[in-house]
Amino acid sequence: MVGLQWGDEAKGKLVDLLADHHDVVVRYQGGANAGHTIVANGVTYKLSLVPTGVIRPEVTCVVGNGVVIDPEALWREIDTLSRQNIALDGRLWISDRAHLILPWHLEEERLTEGTAAATALEAIGTTRRGIGPCYRDKAGRAFALRMADLVDDPQRFRALLARIVPHKNRLLQTFLDDFTPFDAEEIAHRYLQHAERLRPFLTDTVEWLHQARQQGRRLLFEGAQGAMLDVDHGSYPYVTGSNAACGLASGSGVPAQTVRRWIGVVKAYSTRVGGGPFPTELTNELGQRIREVGREYGTVTGRPRRCGWFDAVMVRRAARIVGVNELAVMLLDVLSGLPSVNVAVAYEDDSGRRLTAPPANPDRLAACRPIYQTLPGWTEDLTGVRSWSDLPQAARDYVEFLAEAIEVPVTFVSVGPDRLQTIYKDDKDQTR
Ligand code: GDP
Ligand code: IMO
Ligand code: MG
Repeated sequence: MVGLQWGDEAKGKLVDLLADHHDVVVRYQGGANAGHTIVANGVTYKLSLVPTGVIRPEVTCVVGNGVVIDPEALWREIDTLSRQNIALDGRLWISDRAHLILPWHLEEERLTEGTAAATALEAIGTTRRGIGPCYRDKAGRAFALRMADLVDDPQRFRALLARIVPHKNRLLQTFLDDFTPFDAEEIAHRYLQHAERLRPFLTDTVEWLHQARQQGRRLLFEGAQGAMLDVDHGSYPYVTGSNAACGLASGSGVPAQTVRRWIGVVKAYSTRVGGGPFPTELTNELGQRIREVGREYGTVTGRPRRCGWFDAVMVRRAARIVGVNELAVMLLDVLSGLPSVNVAVAYEDDSGRRLTAPPANPDRLAACRPIYQTLPGWTEDLTGVRSWSDLPQAARDYVEFLAEAIEVPVTFVSVGPDRLQTIYKDDKDQTR
């Protein structure tokens, strides 16, 4: 299950629904930058790093090697969940190969985001959870630490910190005026306490998942962020640090060809948090209206999300990269009451050329004007609709238009945050 836009496609709701039909839910990329809101039986849950499956007591959750983990963020989340009576012991497994987010990653991000004018980009508007700097160290290798480095041998962990911390201090002191240098011993002491608490959750998740598959357990892979935030395929450089579109195999160790259903999740419109080009953005009252009706404020940072029309140019590209064979259209209810609705079917670039795929250069993408197909709107409130045939004709036509534009059939339509506010387009689905 992969988001096909810029994140916040209501993946959390769909994972929660699908988790009912699975034994294991796996996260394979990203970290605490993700924010999923789930409403189940009237209770609201907010999840970030822990897989959404956790709110189903019978589901086991796995955090794969491709996820980057800030132990302090993890404990905050686990403690909040336990206050909601969700226990994780024995049903959360974390990869011993997952990379650690350490305190300097947050400072490095303060540096790059704060001095963006001196870099190759405008500020990305990141979630400031240390995601980018951690993935940078992972690829760079020289200053990276993984879970196994933390829990296996305290002496070795101390020694590695003693080498890394002076380097990080020098870098940060050079560029940040208000930086207080890190003390390697203090960090070692603090993180070795985290290690004690983490140890029972850690395992070789590749072997674990392989055995689970052999035993016939049903696995659900929960993508975080969205394909347009993928570091390779998204609207670079305004993206996240991981392969949000296609990181399943690398981030879990489970081969992609063993996965049967690939579900792409989209909103019935577009949103984006943070900077970067957004051709179908509505900066007018209509955008404001969508933001209010859809309650489009970030789960992690509380920032207002930028809102706009559905962009079939982006989503078609995303669907191809991920290889989705089903589509879930979420938040359709938000569009009720508009006289007409637009879908971008192509772009016109600054020299008047028609484009059917987004250009690589971010400035050229920002200059693209969407070419819209306008469809009739509908006035009915959809939040109580439970079957495809009860949707107004115009709403059904809109969903079918999206499916055709993206060249993928729709199997789910969502008309509200609750589990029950879901339409299975094929009544027999429920959900295979
Ligand atoms: P995620 O990051 O993809 O899991 O999405 P978020 O949880 O960040 O944002 C989706 C928001 O929409 C959440 O607040 C959900 O409770 C809410 N939501 C989910 N499905 C629907 C829907 O069909 N209609 C409406 N109005 N809200 C929905
Ligand atoms: P979920 O899983 C929406 C965005 C940030 C920023 C860019 C880079 O809830 O869909 P990062 O902190 O990852 O380095 O920020 O990516 N971003 C998200 N936007 N939903 C998310 O996750 C996001 N995770 C990161 O706003 O523009
Ligand atoms: Mg979110």
